[in-house]
Amino acid sequence: MFSVSPPRSRLLLAALSLLVTRLSCSSLSVSDIPHIASFFGTKTRYEEVNPHLLRDISSVNRSVLKPPPTEGCTPVHLTAVIRHGSRFPTAKNIRRIQRLSELVRTEASRNSADWLQEIQGRWEMWYTEDMDGQLVMKGREDLRQLAKRLYVLFPSLLSEENLRRINLRSSSKHRCVSSVEAFQEGLQDAWRRGEVQYSHEVDDELMRFFERCRGFVEGVENNRTALIEVEKFKHGDEMDGVRRRLAEKLGLSHHRLTPELVEAAFFLCSYELSIKSVHSPWCFLFDEKDAKVLEYKSDLKQYWKRSHGHAISSMSSCPLFHHVFRTLDKAGRPRRATDEPPEPASILVGHAETLLPLLSLLGLYKDQTPPTASNYHSQHGRSFRSSLIVPYAANVLFVLYDCQRGPRLQLLVNESPVRFPGLENEDAPLYRDVRAVYRHLLDGCDFEKECEGRSVGRAPNIEL
Ligand SMILES: *[C@@H]1O[C@H](CO)[C@@H](O)[C@H](O)[C@H]1NC(C)=O
Ligand SMILES: *[C@@H]1O[C@H](CO)[C@@H](O)[C@H](O)[C@H]1NC(C)=O
Repeated sequence: MFSVSPPRSRLLLAALSLLVTRLSCSSLSVSDIPHIASFFGTKTRYEEVNPHLLRDISSVNRSVLKPPPTEGCTPVHLTAVIRHGSRFPTAKNIRRIQRLSELVRTEASRNSADWLQEIQGRWEMWYTEDMDGQLVMKGREDLRQLAKRLYVLFPSLLSEENLRRINLRSSSKHRCVSSVEAFQEGLQDAWRRGEVQYSHEVDDELMRFFERCRGFVEGVENNRTALIEVEKFKHGDEMDGVRRRLAEKLGLSHHRLTPELVEAAFFLCSYELSIKSVHSPWCFLFDEKDAKVLEYKSDLKQYWKRSHGHAISSMSSCPLFHHVFRTLDKAGRPRRATDEPPEPASILVGHAETLLPLLSLLGLYKDQTPPTASNYHSQHGRSFRSSLIVPYAANVLFVLYDCQRGPRLQLLVNESPVRFPGLENEDAPLYRDVRAVYRHLLDGCDFEKECEGRSVGRAPNIEL
């Protein structure tokens, strides 16, 4: 215990102080939640998307499963693509938070606002760089509770008898491995097993396809022009307005408060909520109007980097797409009584960067007008809101049912039904109809060709 290296012991201390915080203010009453909590983009808590969980974290709405009631359907397979739970900021964001807190402590005015006094007096910079993106206790809990709710929804698939037949895979990142472990703890807890046994595989080809796709890395990730809308918005009128309002509240000159520091303050509010369940004094810097602008900035980044903005971003998820459909094909295939029963469930744990390209490839959350730096004011009703799509512990569930007329497939995102584009009048269409909608992808969507295939003479930006 005492031989742990300094960074680890600091982590341990942080963890202990979290425990104390959690014990002393076990949960925020609903009115204590910052009014901007549902605009944190990928740093949004899962509870903000499903507020009924704030009252009861184990509540499950069984009517989200909607196969046609007259066809005697039973679920035969679940594929769940899940994002890791709440985590510490990355080292880069911790350095920004550090700079921000120093600036506010040393240069901000000493006015009488309570929250500013609190920031300058009692608030302590407690983040250290070694926390770098690791899963926090609340994040473990996110996955444990999700597993328990999924067990209630799919008792026959996630049953104890199926222990060895449930396929579990994870990205190699620490926060994902911890998440897939927590998921198993949740299941085994639901089964009331004493000792938890872990069995999962690390699979970056499936869960971190984005960093292996050269067309994406070169054409989008490392290409400044590909993300030009984000840069423009960052320095545009709306963001400038937020900067000015913040600078005024802090009594700082406008040029001292860069867009990065504005974002750091916003994220600080989000981290204190998602890690410690506290309403941080930093939250008072923003009103809802500011939060919406900052959310839009994040959405622009996700849209142009990970989603419909460039076709290669979604095409990079072809390996995952094919994996999911191969698994569903196998599970839905007619079989004789003597055949092996199908795999009951496939649990795949990754990142927001894993889920967004896949959802985009499936054609979801695609608004008519792409969000840009100049159309903020016409985008209020957009469906592409990362706060709602990829909060911590976000999940995409493919539920295959065995029904009288053949297998049916239902899609749920964050435990709510979502309809397949092109099959909008049914919650659980026939599986063969879903396959027909995605025929072009099932027959193509070739990772080698899309991601590496410069020689084929195709531009990375092919039309989907
Ligand atoms: C349960 O889910 C159904 C289907 O999505 C929805 O219509 C209903 O409002 C939900 N009920 C509750 C209590 O959230
Ligand atoms: C960078 O992005 C722009 C805009 O999407 C594109 O036209 C250009 O070909 C990309 N450059 C590379 C090297 O892929």
